Amino acid sequence: MDILEKCRRFLVDPAFSERLGYPMSPRTAQAQGLYPYFIPIEESEGTTAVVGGRRVIMIGSNNYLGLTADPRVRAAAAQAIEKYGTSCTGSRFLNGTLELHLELEEKLASYLGKEKALVFATGYQTNVGAISALVGREDVVVCDKEDHASIFDGCRLSLGELRRFQHGDVADLDRVLSSLPPAVGKLVVVDGVFSMGGDLAPLPEIVDLCRRHGARLLVDDAHGIGVTGGGRGTAAQFNLTEEVDLIMGTFSKSLASVGGFIAGDEAVIHWIQHRARSLIFSASLPPASTAAALAALEVLEREPERVERVNRIGDRMRTFYRSLGLDTGPSQTPIVPIVLGDGLRTLTFWKALLEAGVYTNVALPPAVPQGRCLLRTSYMATHTEEELAQVEEAVTTVLAAENRGLAPQEVR
Ligand SMILES: Cc1ncc(COP(=O)(O)O)c(C=O)c1O
Repeated sequence: MDILEKCRRFLVDPAFSERLGYPMSPRTAQAQGLYPYFIPIEESEGTTAVVGGRRVIMIGSNNYLGLTADPRVRAAAAQAIEKYGTSCTGSRFLNGTLELHLELEEKLASYLGKEKALVFATGYQTNVGAISALVGREDVVVCDKEDHASIFDGCRLSLGELRRFQHGDVADLDRVLSSLPPAVGKLVVVDGVFSMGGDLAPLPEIVDLCRRHGARLLVDDAHGIGVTGGGRGTAAQFNLTEEVDLIMGTFSKSLASVGGFIAGDEAVIHWIQHRARSLIFSASLPPASTAAALAALEVLEREPERVERVNRIGDRMRTFYRSLGLDTGPSQTPIVPIVLGDGLRTLTFWKALLEAGVYTNVALPPAVPQGRCLLRTSYMATHTEEELAQVEEAVTTVLAAENRGLAPQEVR
């Protein structure tokens, strides 16, 4: 068997693609304009982007506070390049720690109410490094089935055992924790805000279970920082900052940059700093990205009204989609999925919306369960009323066309 044969079959063989959960082969999808991945963005100004020569409204980003185009954030990145150059050319461990990294870590720890924070080059590397550093051969890590892929990759790299519980199901978490010997070390890991459904982890119940079973808790708040708890994240939203042992976050969403961090007690962060392979054996976050995250964090602290606005917009869009009879799943945040069911319907809806000037993201299996394919929509504090009204009109038109079996341009 040729190890590369699967690659050719994935590209062209529909039966092979279907077995992987895709509605058609990538080649067929490309030929029909139904291929939603790796789309080049020609210009980006936050709430709008230019795609295929046309300006579209962006409701497919994680730029929740709209800070990627903020002049203060851009200027901070440019100044950092002037001062430090374009790269640290080395690991945090050796030559790659700048004063800027330490300043960002101190600001994050104090903003979140934790003793110490540690900055990694990406959010992905943060989960991979921190989880594998903490979960040893005799330990068990317990995850929600819908946790982010980087959490599961961290579990795989760890030497311990991985156990999973049903999404958001605290009775199932209790069952899993009860089945473990009291003496083993246990780490429960959940997303604070789930990236596809936009729902919150039931942290009060999870914290209670962790206490009863002697487990520690890590919350991945990639989508919570800047959005929930007035910006401080999901632990803060439930008033549980003390009880959540470790808070992980990224700079690639609300904080308008790239990178990630983990925050917790000093001794635990110190351990991770000396044991996380993805930190030690990889170059550190570049100066421009570090300075951009720091500037975005300062804006978040000074302008909490952005957090309020993005949540109000999320509520408005969720209410609107539901009024059209669309399924928005368990969403409670500015991540508002439109669950469309099968893959082909989802791709067709996505294409029609893009043609109507609205950019969304397609989620197909394995990112979502079979039959629960969705368009992931997400909002920014900087979306204008006019832009939101245009999105509403486009969705209404595409849905009406679908209901009547027409092309969207034939409706009206
Ligand atoms: C919940 C969650 N955790 C971690 C990550 C990884 O973060 P990054 O993109 O900053 O590497 C993401 C990003 O998609 C995420 O959604």
